[in-house]
Amino acid sequence: MAKTKIAVLISGRGSNMQALIEAAQDEDFPAEIVLVASNNPDAAGLEIARAAGIETEVVNHREFDDRESFEEALDSTIRLYGARIVCLAGFMRILTPWFTERWRDLLINIHPSLLPAFKGLHTHERALEAGVRIHGCTVHYVRPEMDDGPIIGQAAVPVLPGDTPDTLSARVLQAEHALYAQCVALACSGKARVAGERVRLQVREFGAELLMNPHD
Ligand code: GRF
Repeated sequence: MAKTKIAVLISGRGSNMQALIEAAQDEDFPAEIVLVASNNPDAAGLEIARAAGIETEVVNHREFDDRESFEEALDSTIRLYGARIVCLAGFMRILTPWFTERWRDLLINIHPSLLPAFKGLHTHERALEAGVRIHGCTVHYVRPEMDDGPIIGQAAVPVLPGDTPDTLSARVLQAEHALYAQCVALACSGKARVAGERVRLQVREFGAELLMNPHD
């Protein structure tokens, strides 16, 4: 089976990246991670990637005069490794439309909320403040607007009495790891294509925790 080459972009601990690395060890997984890149030289995830034998690169945004030149360097690095799909996994730089349009429908993000609720940061605190009973995570194709774009999959978790941002975050993170691997597999096997700003899924069976897009 021909595998799709993917790059994973991180800025920090890299637990979603690690989940993708583990999923990609399965010979039936349709993607191969050719590069883990970080804007942060101290990202803990870089060590995890190296230990797994994956190529890593640092493109430190602080070494560039502006966002454009940083993104051009990031883009060239990704292309150097032949990646066809880019997965953001806790990548903490806002990307300009230049980058997101260059990778339109090939750039995937995971966000720790059920979008379109709670875009941006501190999603677990905000979910608790809002008193929602259900929270979760979303994997979506990236559009220029932050935390926006066609949704590939979502996973829901309950908000339980006594939850703190930490306990809720841990529950969501566990769901993230399963969801991200499933969604990247769908995208890399051509089973999650964008049509009319919705993702059309071509799947007979779906993980129980993935919520189907009602338009399919
Ligand atoms: C995750 O919650 C992800 O949804 C968000 O940033 C966090 C990154 O965590 N975009 P990790 O680095 O993957 O552990």
